[in-house]
Amino acid sequence: MFTTTLKPRPTNRTHDLFSAINELKKKLNAVVLAHYYQDGDIQDIADYIGDSLELSRKAATTSADVIVFAGVHFMAETAKILNPDKLVLLPDLDAGCSLADSCPPDQFAAFKAAHPGHLVVSYINCSAEIKALSDIICTSSNAVKIINQIPETQPIIFAPDRNLGRYVSEQTGRNLVLWQGSCMVHENFSEKKLVELKIQHPTAEIIAHPECEPAVLRHADFIGSTSALLNYTQNSSNQKFIVATEPGIIHQMQKRVPNKIFIPAPPVNNCACNECPHMRLNTLEKLYLAMENRAPEITMSEEIRVAALKPIQRMLEMSI
Ligand code: 13P
Ligand code: SF4
Repeated sequence: MFTTTLKPRPTNRTHDLFSAINELKKKLNAVVLAHYYQDGDIQDIADYIGDSLELSRKAATTSADVIVFAGVHFMAETAKILNPDKLVLLPDLDAGCSLADSCPPDQFAAFKAAHPGHLVVSYINCSAEIKALSDIICTSSNAVKIINQIPETQPIIFAPDRNLGRYVSEQTGRNLVLWQGSCMVHENFSEKKLVELKIQHPTAEIIAHPECEPAVLRHADFIGSTSALLNYTQNSSNQKFIVATEPGIIHQMQKRVPNKIFIPAPPVNNCACNECPHMRLNTLEKLYLAMENRAPEITMSEEIRVAALKPIQRMLEMSI
């Protein structure tokens, strides 16, 4: 359980790495963008921390020469799609995403062909190839807004996350054809243990990411993207929260409101599997080494990049 006490830091090692990374930021004219699911020390050294939408907006407007993306592959790839002439670094190239992997491009192309006349709206948690097969990209913070802007008579495929798709369908009243993908982290919360935890902490509000299964979402007092959850905990008069998303976000929640209590929602097993194993492949050391070595770098074919750019730009236009 997380308490209200902030972790003691920085250690000497962390402090040395912070100084070295700050030096490299200046030398390379680099910006470090970090998702809320990164380790706390990575969040602390980042120039910008955000949810997927905020980080794509930041990537679209940065004047830095080098973007160091502390997140997973599809996020860094999005930054590269928006910035073909910049060097985009990912501290660990193996930092993938189970949700993105659950939608192979050849199978999705066949699925799309089986639904002629459908507009394809894809969650940003997908590969550049899937983006290239899509009409509009969305994130968890703008999905409802984007679907609401599409004419009611237009049939829609929503990919790849079935849980977000189901949630958006409920919120908009639209019948969406769902690709059956999911996130290994958000599907791993235990409804039974969540209810037991709520009985132990009756005043706690349950807050959840829409990638969670309906059995978890139906207990939630508030549902939203990582940024929306963070803002909610800051603005709510409530003192205690059970957090049903990757617990990296709790680092920012504790920083913003140190007097409040945040309890990570329990996974089905007694493991740390509510931590995203992909996100957590990045470490402060790897971030430093990536900047020092100017590698590993994100690359892709220009054909895919240009095709993937269009639906991302549509998203950015539709979510102003
Ligand atoms: P958001 O950043 O949109 O909240 O999404 C969370 C997520 O799963 C990122 O992988
Ligand atoms: Fe992918 Fe889930 Fe990890 Fe997000 S939390 S990066 S959706 S596996």
